[in-house]
Amino acid sequence: MIKDPTEALKEYVSCPSISADSAYADGLTSAREFAAKQLKGLGFTVEAIETPKHPILLAERGGDPSWPCVLIYGHYDVQPADPFELWETPPFEPTVRDGRIFGRGAADNKGPQIVHMAALSRVLEKNPDLPLRIKYLIEGEEEIGSPSFHGFLEKYKDRLDADFVLVSDTGSPSPEQIVITTGLRGLVAFEARFKGPKMDLHSGVHGGVVMNPLQALTQVCGSLHSPDGRVNVPGFYDPVLPVYQWEQEELERLPTTLEEYQEFLGIPKFHCAKGYTPFEALRFGPTLEFNGIGGGYQGEGSKTVIPSEAFVKITCRLVPNQNPSEIAQLVQQTIRERCPDSVKVEFTQPETGHPYLIVPPGRENTPADQSPVLQKAFATAENNIESTFGSKPIYLREGGSIPIISDLKTIAGLDSLLIGLFTPEDNLHAPNESFHLGIMENAITAFEAFFQDLVS
Ligand code: BES
Ligand code: MN
Repeated sequence: MIKDPTEALKEYVSCPSISADSAYADGLTSAREFAAKQLKGLGFTVEAIETPKHPILLAERGGDPSWPCVLIYGHYDVQPADPFELWETPPFEPTVRDGRIFGRGAADNKGPQIVHMAALSRVLEKNPDLPLRIKYLIEGEEEIGSPSFHGFLEKYKDRLDADFVLVSDTGSPSPEQIVITTGLRGLVAFEARFKGPKMDLHSGVHGGVVMNPLQALTQVCGSLHSPDGRVNVPGFYDPVLPVYQWEQEELERLPTTLEEYQEFLGIPKFHCAKGYTPFEALRFGPTLEFNGIGGGYQGEGSKTVIPSEAFVKITCRLVPNQNPSEIAQLVQQTIRERCPDSVKVEFTQPETGHPYLIVPPGRENTPADQSPVLQKAFATAENNIESTFGSKPIYLREGGSIPIISDLKTIAGLDSLLIGLFTPEDNLHAPNESFHLGIMENAITAFEAFFQDLVS
C-alpha cells in the first residue's frame, strides 16, 4: 500500500537508474526492485523478465476473464543527470521545494507511476474485490530507445492481452489543464561521417588541394532546410497525414499564448516550417535536427589543420504516416547526392521509432471498430479529469516520442490512453527536473475515480 505518495516518490527517485550509462547498473536494479516491491504490496504477482540489457517488470492482478483489463505502462529508467553543477540540489537526492519534488526522473517517469500506484492503492483498499484485471509493464530502456522491447513483445504478446494500455508519460500545458495525448511523434536517428584525407593535414602544406570534411559537412547540412523553414529533402512531407478539423479546434483550447511560450524559450523569434504556426509545428509537423556536430580542433587557441573527418548527429521527429525506415533512406540518399565527390560520407545504421495516433470516440475519423472498453475509458477519464481539475481535458497530439506505443499497437493490437502529467516547467532531460505535487495529488484523486468508474 502507498500511504505517502511523496515519500514513495522520493525513494524511487533516489535510485539512480540511468539506462544510458553502464556505471549505473546498481541504480537500475534498485529502481526496478522498488517498483516490484510496490506492486507486490498492491497484491500483484510480479516477474522480472530478463532481456539483453535491463529486465522488464511484468505484473498481474488476475481475476475473472470476463472483467475488463487494463495494461499500465511505465519506465523505471531515467536520462543522464549531467551537467551536475547546474542542479540546485543533487539529482538523486530528491528534495521538495516550491510545491515540487526535484530530482532526475521525478516527472519522467517515476512521479506518474507513483500516481497510478497510489490511486490503485486507495481503490483496492476500499474495494479489494474491484472487478478489474490489471497488468503492469515497466521497462528499463525507454530513454535509450527501448532496444529490448521488440524481442520482448514478440515473445510475450499473448500475455499482454488487455482492452487498452494506460500511459502517463506525456505532458499537459499547466497543472490545471490536462491533456489526453492523441499522437506521438516517431523518430529517426543516425550519424553521418564525412571522410577526407586519410590523416589530419597541415593546412599550409596541403591547403588548397583537398576538400575539408567540415566544409563538405556544413554545405550538405546547410542544404537540408529551405529558407522557408521546411525540410529540404524531396519526398519528406509526402506521407504526412492532414490534420483533422477537431484537432485544430482542440488546439485552440490551449491556455498558453504564443508570447508566453516565446518568453519561456527565450528566443528572439519563432522559426517554423512554412505552413505551420508554432503550436501546429510542435504537434502536427515533422522536423530534421542537428543534435551534435564535431571534427577538427576544439582546444584553446588556433590550430592550422585540415581535419581528416567530421561528423554530424541527426534526428528527425516524424508524424503519422511517415515511415521511419523510408524517411531515413530519403535523408541519407539526399545527403549522399549532395556530398561533394571529393569526400566520402558514411552512415551509422539508423535507429527508428514509429509515430502513433489514436482518435478519441465520436470524432469524424474514429475507427468504427474501436473497443467499447477503450471508449468507456476515454469517457471516464474525461469525466474524472473534469471533476478533479475543473476543466475538460484537451485532446492533442504531442511532440515527444514513445516508440513502443506504436509497437504495442502493431504487434499486440493494443491502443493507448495517454494522460499527460508533465508540465513545461518540469525540465525533462535537463538539470533541475521536477514533478508538480499539486498535479500529483489531483491526478491520484482522478485516477482513483477512474479505476472505480471503469467497472461501474
Ligand atoms: N516521456 C518522454 C516522451 C515525451 C516527453 C512525450 C514529453 C511527450 C512529452 C520519453 O521518456 C522520452 O524522452 N522519449 C524519447 C524517446 C527516444 C529516446 C527514443 C524522446 O522523445 O526523445
Ligand atoms: Mn519518459
